[in-house]
Amino acid sequence: MRITRRQFVTSYTAALAVTGLRKHRLRDSPSSSPSRVIIDTDPGVDDALALLLAMRSPELKIEGVTAVAGNVPLELTLPNALRMIEIAGRTDIPVAPGASGPLVRRLVTATYAHGENGLGGAVFPEPQTKPVAQPAAEFMRDRLRKYPGEVTLITIGPLTNIASAFNMDHELPHLARGLMMMGGSLSGGNITPAAEFNVYVDPEAARVVFQSGIPITMVGLDVTRRTTLTEEHVRTLAAAENPVSQAAAKIARNALQHAREQGFLVGPNMHDSLAVATFIDPSLVACKDYYIDVETAGELTAGETLGYSPNAGDLRRTPEKEKEAASKLTIRGSAPTLASTRTSPVIRDQYAPNAQVAFGVDSRRFFDLLIARLSGHG
Ligand code: RIB
Ligand code: CA
Repeated sequence: MRITRRQFVTSYTAALAVTGLRKHRLRDSPSSSPSRVIIDTDPGVDDALALLLAMRSPELKIEGVTAVAGNVPLELTLPNALRMIEIAGRTDIPVAPGASGPLVRRLVTATYAHGENGLGGAVFPEPQTKPVAQPAAEFMRDRLRKYPGEVTLITIGPLTNIASAFNMDHELPHLARGLMMMGGSLSGGNITPAAEFNVYVDPEAARVVFQSGIPITMVGLDVTRRTTLTEEHVRTLAAAENPVSQAAAKIARNALQHAREQGFLVGPNMHDSLAVATFIDPSLVACKDYYIDVETAGELTAGETLGYSPNAGDLRRTPEKEKEAASKLTIRGSAPTLASTRTSPVIRDQYAPNAQVAFGVDSRRFFDLLIARLSGHG
């Protein structure tokens, strides 16, 4: 029997009340050794650089890479992911094939931004490495169950694989250490005025993730728009003599050229690398607590992430007054139509944050980290 949305969120709130407000912050890793991660990706120009950054970062123990359709179809995102692990000399990392399309929508790609091959036109040899046979959702389930409380999901594409895993095994959100997401925006979209691309492609999957109870850090356009690649970055990468920096320079140079041809005055944003970098060094961003929900019904706004907070609009309050405001904050939806049976637009009775949303970023320190790691000097 399908439960209504209101019933679902009410039971979610009740569960929170019973178990204590689940910390929506990443759960503390049990040890200071490299942190276990699974990277879910749709490479993708910025995904490719993010994967190379991750593979150059000793803080990460990459349990696996899972490919999803997004920027380009899965037939390209999967081999592009395999290309990156070969370039980095990391064919020890398993790559699993994921969803070839969203849960309930047709796939919308971003070849306009990432080129027909997904790497901005930069050409690399066909990968010799094969993906694992296990589908991405099952791969995630098995690793999350093998290492309870230790694995962080770093998602830099549409959330279809994650939602599929959570729908298959409802305990997974509570077995993960947390989820670091490049996605969403509280300051307008990049594929429509309302929606950021990753959430736009599969809004239903994004809603499953935000309502799952997994601790989420949302690195959205609010901060990634301030990470613009420059010619100087490309020169630095090209000057370093190693396969990773040379591949990164090639991809970055093509991306800058593509941006110029489209008449942009600045280079592309390093959306996905910022999510990986934030996992490596959380001090790169400043975050605020929000209850995030996802529009899925809008004809114009599907994929919009809405942030509810007692401090909306940056109105600062004393801690006591903030707590009081939070207790009174209702999650209000659209006004009911005359035909609607709902008596009130209130969707849930009590505010409970489900994500830390990044709103400030130290762009210079971010690029220092990214370029140093990709060059092999950091
Ligand atoms: O909106 C930016 C996101 O969409 C990035 O992950 C980029 O790779 C595209 O997938
Ligand atoms: Ca991506």
